Amino acid sequence: MALINIRNLTFEYPGSLEPIFNDLDLKLDTDWKLGFIGRNGYGKTTFLKLLMGKFSYKGSITKPLPMAYFPFSVNNYNIMTLDLLETLQPNFELWRLQKEMNLLEVREETLYLPFSVLSGGEQTKILLALLFAEEERFLLIDEPTNHLDTHGREVVAKYLENKKGFILVSHDREFINSIVDHILIIEKNKIVLQRGTYDTWEQNKNLEDQYELEQNQKLRKEIRRLKQSAREKAIWSDNVEATKIGSGPVDKGYIGHKAAKMMKRSKTMEMRYEKAVEEKKKLLKNIEPIEPLQMNILEHHAKPYINAEDFTIIYGNSNIFKPIQFLVENGDCIVFKGDNGSGKSSIIKAILGKDVPWQGRLEIAKGLIISYVPQKFHYVNGNINEFVNEEQLDKTKFLTILRKLGFSRNQFEIPIENFSMGQKKKIFLAKSICEKANLFIWDEPLNYIDVISRIQIENMILEYSPTMILIEHDRRFIDKVATDIIELSK
Ligand SMILES: Nc1ncnc2c1ncn2[C@@H]1O[C@H](COP(=O)(O)OP(=O)(O)OP(=O)(O)O)[C@@H](O)[C@H]1O
Ligand SMILES: [Mg+2]
Repeated sequence: MALINIRNLTFEYPGSLEPIFNDLDLKLDTDWKLGFIGRNGYGKTTFLKLLMGKFSYKGSITKPLPMAYFPFSVNNYNIMTLDLLETLQPNFELWRLQKEMNLLEVREETLYLPFSVLSGGEQTKILLALLFAEEERFLLIDEPTNHLDTHGREVVAKYLENKKGFILVSHDREFINSIVDHILIIEKNKIVLQRGTYDTWEQNKNLEDQYELEQNQKLRKEIRRLKQSAREKAIWSDNVEATKIGSGPVDKGYIGHKAAKMMKRSKTMEMRYEKAVEEKKKLLKNIEPIEPLQMNILEHHAKPYINAEDFTIIYGNSNIFKPIQFLVENGDCIVFKGDNGSGKSSIIKAILGKDVPWQGRLEIAKGLIISYVPQKFHYVNGNINEFVNEEQLDKTKFLTILRKLGFSRNQFEIPIENFSMGQKKKIFLAKSICEKANLFIWDEPLNYIDVISRIQIENMILEYSPTMILIEHDRRFIDKVATDIIELSK
C-alpha cells in the first residue's frame, strides 16, 4: 500500500471564470479499485490529467508510482497494430501483452492487422491490454466502455475486477458497480470519497438530499415566522413609543422601557432570522434536479414509416447478419442489438440512403423527416453561438435544453473544442431534440453521457413517445424505452 497525497490542489483553465478544483485535499491508496463519477464537465478528465502532470497547478501532488492514462492518443490508425502499440508504450514485453489480450478475449492475429480495420471493441481491448502489460504503475482509465458492446463490457468488467491499482471513470452504473471497491464523486459543489460502489454512494446521497430538503422546508417556515413576528414586534415598539408623545398623565419612563424591551426582542428575532437564512443558504447546493426535456415531434401520415423484409447488408460476397424483418410505425422505439461489427450502423446508413450494399426489401415512406445523431461526432470549431447559426437552430430552445442537461451559462462562452467529451456529445443530442422530425435515429446516443442526463433522456422518450431507431448498449436504458428489440446474428 502506498498513498497518492493531494494537498491544496487548486486549478483553473486559463481564461475560465471559476476554478475546477479549489484547495482540494485527498489521499488515495494505490491498491484501490477506485470508481470516479460526476456529471459531464465537472472535471474528471482534468483531474486525471493533473495526476499525469499535464498542467501546472497550485498545491502539491505526491505520487509513489508512475502513472499511465487510457485512452492513448492514437495518431496513425493505418499502421500494423503491433507497430502502433510500440509507438504508444515502447517498453512492454510481448508475452505479457499476449497474456492480457488473452484475458480480454482478443485474437492474437489482430496484432498483425492494421489498427484501422479492428472493430471499436477490439481497439479498446487491445489498448487496455497494453496498459496492463507493464507493472508498477498506477492506471488512470477514462471511460473505457464507449464503443464496447454488451458482451465486451462484461469481459472488460470481469478483467478489471481482477486487477487493482487504478482509477476508473465511467457513466455505466452496472459496469462501475461490478468492479470498484472505492468511489470518488465530483458533486456540484464538493468532492466525496467513500468505500463502496456507485450504488452505495447513490443511497447515501439520496438520504442526504432528503434530509436537506426537509431541513430546507423547516427553515423556510421558520424564516417566514421569524420575519413576520420581528415585523410585528418592531411595529408594536414604534406604536408604544408613539404613545409618549400624547398629553395626559402617563409614565413616560415606563413606556420608553417597554418599547426598548420590545425592540430588543425584535432584534433577537432578527438575528435568529439571519442565522436561519444563512443556514438555509448552505443547503441544496449539491442537489441535481432531474429536469424534464421537451421534444418536437411531427407525425407523418404514412403507415408504416419503414418496412424491411429479408433485409441484410452485404460486404464482399456475404451477408454480415442473417436477413431480418422489421416495421417502424408511429410511436415505435426500435433498438438494434448486436456485437461490435455486426452491422448496426450500416443498417442506419442504408435507411439514410447512404451508399451501403444491401439486399432484400427496404421501403421508406416518402417525405419522412429524419433527425440523425451519428455515433462519432465530427469536429466542431467556434462557440455555441456560431454552432446555432451554422445549424440554423432555435437558439432559445437549444440553450434551454443544454442548460437542463447541466451546462452552466459560463460554458456557452468557451470554444467547443475545449468542451469535455460528454459536453460535445450533448451538443449533438440537444440539436436533435430541438429539431422537428418524424423519425429520430440515434447511434449510441449515451456514449459519454452522464447518469442524470441518461435518466432525463429516458423520461423524455417515455413521455413523448417519439418514433425512434436506436443503437445502444446501456441495459437499464434499453429496458425502459424499447418497444421492440431486433437482434442481429451472424
Ligand atoms: N482548455 C480548456 N480551456 C477552458 N476550459 C476547459 C479546457 N478544457 C476543459 N475545459 C472545461 O473544463 C471543464 C471540465 O472538463 P473535463 O473534460 O475535465 O470534464 P469531465 O468531468 O471529464 O467530463 P466528461 O464526463 O464529459 O468526460 C469543462 O467545463 C470544460 O469545458
Ligand atoms: Mg472526461
